[in-house]
Amino acid sequence: MKETLLLEIIQEKVKTCEKCDLCITRKNAVPGKGNQNADIVFIGEAPGKNEDLHGEPFIGTAGKKLDDALENVGLTRNSVYITNIVKCRPPKNRIPNDVEKIMCSNYLEGELAIINPKIICLLGSTSYYSILGGKEISKNHGKFVSKDNRMYFVTFHPAAAIYNQKLGKVFKNDIRKLMKELQKLKTKSAD
Ligand code: URA
Ligand code: SF4
Repeated sequence: MKETLLLEIIQEKVKTCEKCDLCITRKNAVPGKGNQNADIVFIGEAPGKNEDLHGEPFIGTAGKKLDDALENVGLTRNSVYITNIVKCRPPKNRIPNDVEKIMCSNYLEGELAIINPKIICLLGSTSYYSILGGKEISKNHGKFVSKDNRMYFVTFHPAAAIYNQKLGKVFKNDIRKLMKELQKLKTKSAD
């Protein structure tokens, strides 16, 4: 299928990209991964240590938290698409800077244009601030925001749930809310 091919082209380009300095310190670039027909795209911040070692997004502890929340609503990794604001690990897991985010944004734009998901779920403040220019994720998590013909959902980064059980529950609750809205949208479009 033509679209699969386009997504693969982006993923291959990411693997050899040298557009910003993160390419110097990375071991592997980490392209997005998942279903090109996904209704939901999840956007995290940047690859961490495990992701950098293996070239796959969200495969460490934060990824396990994300998997749990997905499983809780009957979703699997293969039914969604998971990617990051920047595709290479920043040294010592620092927050990606503006130049890195801008240089990497074409890949994300491409992924979103090809997949055209019903909802884009922003995981954590870097993703939320970069894409919606928002502030104060703790006050805005659980909200749906419509911008430029796209529907976004704001929630915490699953890493926040690692040492904070309360946030873990809030995160799972948010994902349940996201799923309910998706089901509503799908019923509407089937009418
Ligand atoms: N945290 C992220 O934001 N993305 C990953 O891929 C892994 C951890
Ligand atoms: Fe390229 Fe993005 Fe990696 Fe920078 S972070 S080298 S722009 S893929």
